Amino acid sequence: MILKAEGVSRRYFRRTGCANYFDAVLPVSLQIVPGEMTVLTGRSGSGKTTLLNMLSGLLMPAGGKVWVDETDLYALDDKALSRLRSERIGIVPQGRSAVDTLTVLENILLPAVLYGRALPREEAARWMERLGIAHLQDARPAELSGGELRRMAIVRALAQDPEILFADEPTGDLDDENTRLVLSAFRDYAHNKKKAVFMVTHENDALLYADTVYRMDGGRILSSAGRTE
Ligand SMILES: Nc1ncnc2c1ncn2[C@@H]1O[C@H](COP(=O)(O)OP(=O)(O)OP(=O)(O)O)[C@@H](O)[C@H]1O
Ligand SMILES: [Mg+2]
Repeated sequence: MILKAEGVSRRYFRRTGCANYFDAVLPVSLQIVPGEMTVLTGRSGSGKTTLLNMLSGLLMPAGGKVWVDETDLYALDDKALSRLRSERIGIVPQGRSAVDTLTVLENILLPAVLYGRALPREEAARWMERLGIAHLQDARPAELSGGELRRMAIVRALAQDPEILFADEPTGDLDDENTRLVLSAFRDYAHNKKKAVFMVTHENDALLYADTVYRMDGGRILSSAGRTE
């Protein structure tokens, strides 16, 4: 599946200041394709999360369109949109996303339970092993470190085997070694499974793993580059 953004933009209205609006994302066009890892960088407040949320079906753009193959994402009704998202799109959000009353493994399997799909136990076990949290599968989120919780959220997204995986600063609270584990897992997911990965990060290392790099500043995409390896 190919995801195409055509001139997507977002303006926020604010109560303070002289101007009462703020252009978080100016019209941006880009494509996300299977088999590639795309990295979006840029300073804090440059509009990265806003753009990711618009691309992943979470936030309606003020202008422009998001196409998933031939489907206009935001022309779908709520039910069809949430179905498409649950079947084809995986997200590792920027904030905390654990359900505290469930174990780590139950958290990871939760999306499949919610959407009535077969539980991806093997995928879950494989990714937990690879990201070094297999021994924590029966622990509760409250017993985990920030980095362990982050890896749980990453495994939860990967185990659903989505056609497009979005991740918003997934290595923000990881040490160098775990950062590399996650980056290489994402790259292998894109390259070996022919899926699309779109990741927001401040991590310089990520540039070494990416097929395409976009840099964002003040709501604009400033530059894109091919593989930097
Ligand atoms: N709901 C909102 N209402 C008003 N302004 C918002 C809202 N959400 C974001 N903004 C503003 O839009 C700008 C872009 O925010 P965004 O979260 O996309 O930045 P970011 O590049 O992801 O930053 P960071 O690296 O800190 O996560 C910021 O200046 C932010 O203050
Ligand atoms: Mg952000």
